[in-house]
Amino acid sequence: MLNKVRLWKNKGQEPFSSEYTKEEVKKRPIPEHIAIIMDGNGRWAKKRAMPRVAGHYEGMQVVRKITRFANELGVKVLTLYAFSTENWKRPKSEVDYLMKLPEEFLGTFLPELVKENVQVRVMGNKEQLPEHTRRAVEKAIKETKNNTGLILNFALNYGSRAEITSAVQAIAKQIEAGNLTAEQVNEELVASYLMTKDLGDPDLLIRTSGEIRLSNFMLWQLAYTEFWFTDVLWPDFTEQHLLQAIADFQQRGRRFGGV
Ligand code: IPE
Ligand code: IPE
Ligand code: MG
Repeated sequence: MLNKVRLWKNKGQEPFSSEYTKEEVKKRPIPEHIAIIMDGNGRWAKKRAMPRVAGHYEGMQVVRKITRFANELGVKVLTLYAFSTENWKRPKSEVDYLMKLPEEFLGTFLPELVKENVQVRVMGNKEQLPEHTRRAVEKAIKETKNNTGLILNFALNYGSRAEITSAVQAIAKQIEAGNLTAEQVNEELVASYLMTKDLGDPDLLIRTSGEIRLSNFMLWQLAYTEFWFTDVLWPDFTEQHLLQAIADFQQRGRRFGGV
């Protein structure tokens, strides 16, 4: 079944041509780092004549479900795009709601994350977050920092261009101070100034909701990542979709420029 040629793009709500089981997928190498652009919450709500924030609430339940499942599969790092540096452009009421979600999510889920040995991280500009949001994420980071299982890495107020710009600025300062020469700036050094400095690059990137773009997400880190797009809206995303994405990934030949 695994050798069957599959569509590169899973078609929305259509039934799966074949279903995968966790056991079947676990027989082959599981991507160590999976990154997800969780998109389509607003459209999911609109289809149901509900306010956009209802879609965000539902999306949060899916985060729980997929975190549990990724942990069961033995994924090492799960990076979830939760809020971009551009999402501040949204109506204040929606931004306020999104900034309450980390508290809501961690308030109820943190004990389970602690128990399941999950390490919570946040990448993005934390200084710009409202005090209550920052407090909630700092608490989760602190309480799980010694956990050695799945790394649950939230991209919160994250933007890849801002990340790269900060890195360039920090490197320039080192050069200005005489601690570094221009010749010493190489790929490894640049990577060490990024927010992912101690994480491997994503092996698999998933984006839901049918949008085929990166929206300022991990531009440096995704250089050799396998992409998987689906029309499914994030609140409709299931364990089976994740299995489909991983099964597709397992059939791809990654060459990294070689033969
Ligand atoms: C993704 O869903 C969640 C965030 C960006 C915070 P959207 O809110 O972007 O949903 P759509 O794209 O409008 O459907
Ligand atoms: C990307 O989704 C950001 C997150 C999922 C958090 P957007 O919905 O903000 O992206 P665009 O505006 O469609 O590119
Ligand atoms: Mg969107």
